[in-house]
Amino acid sequence: MNLDDMLAATRFQSYVYAYPHKTAYRRIEPALPLGPLWADEPRRDSLFLYLHVPFCEHRCGFCNLFTRPVPADELVEAYLATLARQARIVRDALASGGSFAFARAAIGGGTPTLLDAHQLERVLQMMQLPAGIPMSVETSPETALPDRLGVLVAGGADRISIGVQSFVEAECRAVNRPQDPAIVHRALRAIRDAGPATLNVDLMYGLPAQTAATWQHTLGSALEYAPEEVYLYPLYVRPLTTLGKKGAEATDRHRIELYEQARAELLAAGYRQISLRMFRRGALPASPVYCCQDDGMVGLGCGARSYTRGVHYSSEWAVGARGVRDIIDRWIGRSDAELGCADYGFVLDAGEQRRRWLILSLLSDEGLDLAAYATRFGAPALAHFPELAELAQRGLATHVDNRLALTHAGLAHADAIGPWLYSEQVRARMQEYDLT
Ligand SMILES: C[S@@+](CC[C@H](N)C(=O)[O-])C[C@H]1O[C@@H](n2cnc3c(N)ncnc32)[C@H](O)[C@@H]1O
Ligand code: SF4
Repeated sequence: MNLDDMLAATRFQSYVYAYPHKTAYRRIEPALPLGPLWADEPRRDSLFLYLHVPFCEHRCGFCNLFTRPVPADELVEAYLATLARQARIVRDALASGGSFAFARAAIGGGTPTLLDAHQLERVLQMMQLPAGIPMSVETSPETALPDRLGVLVAGGADRISIGVQSFVEAECRAVNRPQDPAIVHRALRAIRDAGPATLNVDLMYGLPAQTAATWQHTLGSALEYAPEEVYLYPLYVRPLTTLGKKGAEATDRHRIELYEQARAELLAAGYRQISLRMFRRGALPASPVYCCQDDGMVGLGCGARSYTRGVHYSSEWAVGARGVRDIIDRWIGRSDAELGCADYGFVLDAGEQRRRWLILSLLSDEGLDLAAYATRFGAPALAHFPELAELAQRGLATHVDNRLALTHAGLAHADAIGPWLYSEQVRARMQEYDLT
């Protein structure tokens, strides 16, 4: 796609938090044993451990994350049993290639705090993390309970991220997320009381019937808790979600106006914009982010992705209730041998590795370090990706200290610039993906 077509289309094309997108993953045959796969990973001393809990107390109408609502107790127990088995198998596989260490961790979902305090303790034991490394955990208003948060903070969580979306009950109801604002306030107080962890609040804009006034109320209510980070998510209506099936729409104009309003509000309140979605306050140490260009990520759990430099892999993925249920059931029944292999994912050749580095760098506030790129890949980024020059010509990116960084206009178009940089191969695979 040329840049003009890209700019003429909606700027809300796709949230690029990883590259390649999981809909470009396919079966890997023959399956790759994890020991040899990880043996040659360059930075084995600073791996990122991600653990996925694919359960929630309900399925929100906008959400296409890999999660199953209201799981039976037996299902959760069976899941934790397989998770413990997988943690041991993956650890043994990593150790077979020599020494390794985790430098960062995250527990995500779904809603990890759907697990009770005792189950969370078991999860932390499975992870066997060294003391003092940064660890982020996702939670929701209903499940951010003091005993669960206490276990997590005592176990090393130094960042708690809560999905709030809106402080207006009717707006949440309209997107099938039953949520009492009093419960949200209770949860935010509980997180602050749990200890000195960084607080991140997720908010959404472009919700049906959301106005400048209700958005202002939501922003102001969140800022009462002085969160160190705020993520602002533009609403996407995605296939197979309840909103998607209802034919709901999110217009560009609505989202753009609310984005500009929130950006101005947060900058005035002392926040710095890190990416289209992320705003951060104060001089914090860098908190764990999900898509560092360089680090190996070891995923545990059904729905978790793992990244070596050359292979990205995971379990299969679905959005629809039946698809998610079947994938979780199959995953729970996996043999030790199956848990010890990568059999579904994407093999990145040299070109895709360069492209991944480029996209993830450019979409973050640090921008693309041109010298580091040339050193690492043996040629200037502009030689590999001449189309980058167009971004600067259109005022979407600028050169600062030998970095190519998005401008304000570029950040606002990040969800279009990311997909514009996808390779033909990834684009074609995503288009032919059969979403069930
Ligand atoms: C794992 S959830 C957060 C934790 C917890 N499950 C909750 O919802 O409270 C990740 C975040 O993705 C965002 N999100 C999910 N689907 C979205 C969509 N279709 N459009 C915009 N944002 C979305 C929401 O802001 C949500 O808080
Ligand atoms: S937004 Fe959060 S609570 Fe809602 S379905 Fe998605 S992961 Fe679950």
